[in-house]
Amino acid sequence: MADSDHTRLSVSLIDVNEGCEPEFVNLSREFAQIFDRKGYGRSETIRDEALPSRYYAVRHWASAGAARRCHADADVQTLTKRLYQIGRITHVVNGVRAADAVRLIIDERRARAEADRRAGFDRRVKDVGRPEGDRRSGRDRRLGPRRLRERAGDVDLVAAARRAREHADAAFSHFKVGAALEAADGTVITGCNIENATYGLTICAERVAMFKAISEGQRAFTRIAIVADTEAPTPPCGACRQILWEFGGNLEVVLANMVQEKGRHRMKDLLPLPFDARLL
Ligand code: THU
Repeated sequence: MADSDHTRLSVSLIDVNEGCEPEFVNLSREFAQIFDRKGYGRSETIRDEALPSRYYAVRHWASAGAARRCHADADVQTLTKRLYQIGRITHVVNGVRAADAVRLIIDERRARAEADRRAGFDRRVKDVGRPEGDRRSGRDRRLGPRRLRERAGDVDLVAAARRAREHADAAFSHFKVGAALEAADGTVITGCNIENATYGLTICAERVAMFKAISEGQRAFTRIAIVADTEAPTPPCGACRQILWEFGGNLEVVLANMVQEKGRHRMKDLLPLPFDARLL
């Protein structure tokens, strides 16, 4: 592929609402046709063998320009809006620049099978911006997975972190911390700090949560809540920032104490100029 340097790929995980499969199959066909007809690239839909209502939408754009034109296309936007109405969408890979898109999927599968040090799932290699006309406001606004999740009735990550904090084993510092990490499939994995007599082997709540999650097979994450019983927020230490970035990418970090939320940050702001697998 001559233009392969600029090929863009996105992978979204779609949990189709009960009874909406026929409409989803039609929509997938329409996406494939429009990609083909307008020369945007290729749109594929793959069913998850383990979970019948789960699909992967894989979009290979012919170039960065084709991806931009596709995002700004009113017909594509209409299809996307219909998709959001019949399923829950989680972006797993977004705008990755890949020399070979197929290779990337194979690597992704391998990463699931092997415990390795690949980079976070939603990191952009370069900023593709957002073309004018791609925004909708008010009631017409499209809700992404994060906003959908934040609607009333969704997981209270801070409450989960507060509960996890109760298990902290902080006999030396008496500083108890709880963390709750949300995976892209909605699973919440908690952690607490664990200290020991040699002090130096202490592990923070955040790393406990992340390592538990990795050991359970999770590989994509959206948010982490961190709770301590202090007036000032307790941000993750340097070691935790490195681990959260490498395994979680640009996570949203919610800081809270026992009574209220104290701030929200993004991992890219907490760890500027990171060292990670891309530099190896
Ligand atoms: N700690 C955490 O678990 N997370 C943080 O973000 C900051 C510090 C723990 C480590 C140690 O057990 C105690 O808090 C005091 O540093």
